[in-house]
Amino acid sequence: MTRILVLAGSNRTGSLNRRLADEAVGLLAASQAVEVVRLDLADYPLPIYDGDVEAASGLPDAALKLAGQLTASDAALLVSPEYNASVPPLLKNALDWASRVRRLDNRPVLPFRGLVVGLASASPGRFGGARSLSHLRDILVSLGSEVIARQCSIVQAGEAFDAEGRLSRPNDRDALEKLVESLVDIAIALRRAG
Ligand code: FNR
Repeated sequence: MTRILVLAGSNRTGSLNRRLADEAVGLLAASQAVEVVRLDLADYPLPIYDGDVEAASGLPDAALKLAGQLTASDAALLVSPEYNASVPPLLKNALDWASRVRRLDNRPVLPFRGLVVGLASASPGRFGGARSLSHLRDILVSLGSEVIARQCSIVQAGEAFDAEGRLSRPNDRDALEKLVESLVDIAIALRRAG
């Protein structure tokens, strides 16, 4: 079974990106071919990365756990807000810590290498957070991930969800469906060995 992680780059109550991540989980869950794992960064509390902290105390458990989840997955869908035209610190910090994990259970690992990644964003603004996704794409490509070409940015996202938290505009649903479809197809095709 192809394993796909879904995580949002915001822990905020009422987060638009968490809602979008939940929508994606619903779509992914409809596919018989994948196992969907919804990961919540609130469950991975990490200090701001500091080399002195790493040297003194080693890698935090949350970093090891996060790297373990990434390593065990074929693909990930990252749903991120845009902060000042870039990646929010919550997500960047989680990626930075996970990138420091080189061994798990005494075995060498590269948590991001070969991971198929899909990117989505939601923002109340008129770019939908798309600028953060180009930075996120660069980061993940530099870590060796296979970031898929298709991405999805929900503009004016404050009005994009109905009372049940579902995407209400057909164009938004269509964009998310196409992204999820591409992610599943490519994740199956490039499935990590072992
Ligand atoms: C923002 N926001 C924002 N939005 C945007 O489209 N482009 C941007 O550059 C920024 N910059 C920015 C910086 C900071 C520090 C904050 C706190 C916010 C607004 C942001 O998109 C909005 O708060 C979203 O609702 C955040 O995502 P969640 O938490 O709703 O998922």
